[in-house]
Amino acid sequence: MITVKNLKRYYGTGETAVKALRGVSFEIKKGEFVAIMGASGSGKTTLLRILALLDDATDGEYTIRGLQVSSLPEAERSYYRLTQVGYVFQDYALINEMSAAENVYILSMMEGKSRKESYKTALEALDKVGLKEKHNRIPDELSGGEKQRVAIARAIAKKPDILFADEPCANLDTRNSKQVLDVFKELNEKYGQTIIMVTHEPWHTEYVDRVITLEDGSLVSDEQKRR
Ligand SMILES: Nc1ncnc2c1ncn2[C@@H]1O[C@H](COP(=O)(O)OP(=O)(O)O)[C@@H](O)[C@H]1O
Ligand SMILES: [Mg+2]
Repeated sequence: MITVKNLKRYYGTGETAVKALRGVSFEIKKGEFVAIMGASGSGKTTLLRILALLDDATDGEYTIRGLQVSSLPEAERSYYRLTQVGYVFQDYALINEMSAAENVYILSMMEGKSRKESYKTALEALDKVGLKEKHNRIPDELSGGEKQRVAIARAIAKKPDILFADEPCANLDTRNSKQVLDVFKELNEKYGQTIIMVTHEPWHTEYVDRVITLEDGSLVSDEQKRR
């Protein structure tokens, strides 16, 4: 589904350029749940942002389902990003004044869907993360794990090709982290959702199919886990 070849990302130019990715290659199949591991500064976020079309590579190839996304016109890239890419941030990025359902359906409405249809889609997504009963709560009335599950619902409401998550459990204790990881695992197993998750916690890899490890901008291991 995803192929990257010799992907590079340099910040700045010349001698002072930071080589965040030094030529990374791999393929990811539909339905895989992949963890990207590595120390802080190894290039994990840089890689994820390029894969999610939030940033451009300096060099290299990137294709999704055979489509050369790196050379698409910006309008098509942003359409793809809006309709096909789900992204979960470390800090949830929820709007505090809005209920869980509103946080989820605001994106569908931006896609031009009706309020009624958007609300229905939002409730379905909240159901998938186990929060249908709490759809009326605002973020302040939810635990950290529940907030992140609302953010996951928002990301999956559009039924994205790929769900990306950048250290989704970084602000959570073990109990809340497990809730969130269980949701990812269920989305992957029950609905076949392709998931690429950045993490630096070794125990999180128990939930995934495969672990790609970066070190100083290079891929140093790509390990298939058994399930
Ligand atoms: N916008 C930026 N400008 C300059 N350097 C950056 C920028 N973003 C990241 N970097 C550098 O690129 C390297 C990789 O960063 P990052 O991808 O955030 O790593 P990780 O997510 O693994 O901690 C680091 O050296 C970081 O300082
Ligand atoms: Mg990071």
